Amino acid sequence: MTTFPTVRMRRLRQSEALRALVRETALDPGDFILPFFVAEGRRVRREVSAMPGVCQLSVDELVGEVKALDGSGVGSVLLFGIPDEKDAVGSQAYARDGVVQRAVAAVKDARPGLIVITDVCLCEYTDHGHCGIIEDGQVLNDPSLELLARMAQSHADAGADVVAPSDMMDGRVGAIRRLLDESGHANTLIMAYSAKFASGFYGPFREAAGSAPRFGDRRSYQMDPGNGREALREIELDVAEGADIVMVKPALAYLDLVRRARDRFAQPLAAYNVSGEYAMVKAAAAQGWIDERRIVMEILTGIKRAGADLIITYHARDAARWLHECP
Ligand code: PBG
Repeated sequence: MTTFPTVRMRRLRQSEALRALVRETALDPGDFILPFFVAEGRRVRREVSAMPGVCQLSVDELVGEVKALDGSGVGSVLLFGIPDEKDAVGSQAYARDGVVQRAVAAVKDARPGLIVITDVCLCEYTDHGHCGIIEDGQVLNDPSLELLARMAQSHADAGADVVAPSDMMDGRVGAIRRLLDESGHANTLIMAYSAKFASGFYGPFREAAGSAPRFGDRRSYQMDPGNGREALREIELDVAEGADIVMVKPALAYLDLVRRARDRFAQPLAAYNVSGEYAMVKAAAAQGWIDERRIVMEILTGIKRAGADLIITYHARDAARWLHECP
């Protein structure tokens, strides 16, 4: 092997122009998906305490936010609903005039070209805060599927381009695909939260979405953090059931799985840079302990280099702006 001094790795790093020329991974705002939390009411903007810069927004405020995305290059948003009323079966999740259904219609009306993705999960809509129907303290799988499918259909009826089931019930991708196809939504995509882990990194999200479980935790349906092969099985099953896009979530503690999924599957792969990952960066930056811009770009680059095509991130707007500023 030819080596030093013939080979000098630093030759490739001499100037920004050279570094740009040989850079293997570049971020593109078109790969970012920006999440929003939609609440009932008008002129509502409530900042989430552990997520500076992220607010619960009423539909009118949301419309203003998506208009402001124009020119940023960010072409897709992910909507989570925060209903005023919750019950045991999450009725507002599949109500025709539910908060997300109205938000989807308003966003598509204001910006028809924007890709609108909706979270499909019952935990924000159930009074017990679990992602499925409860009986005797257990989260039931099969009876929950029908509700999830109805929820997805109601989002598609409202105009959603992509539905994103995040509940981790078995068989939900297939159930959703069937109902979408039967209801005239053959072109609605499914982005499946395929390998979703039971993670402490969702802490701030549960405040944002008001979806903390009232009892127990989500370990009987979300994955155990130690399991990598099982994550690949989950993805394989979702692909078999018709998922158009698959996902690994959270991102940072699971980058090995982003890489393994990328090597094994041809489907577009998303990674979710979740609320706790965002909160940690924001907290350290607020203390002046880290350079937020550098850290965010490095994190997003790492997720992309690991193999993600799409990145769901609360940093999307800032990162897109920094990409425009940076030559
Ligand atoms: C709903 C859902 C959660 C997240 C996305 N969809 C929370 C959970 O499963 O408890 C987490 C997103 C984030 O932390 O940013 N099930």
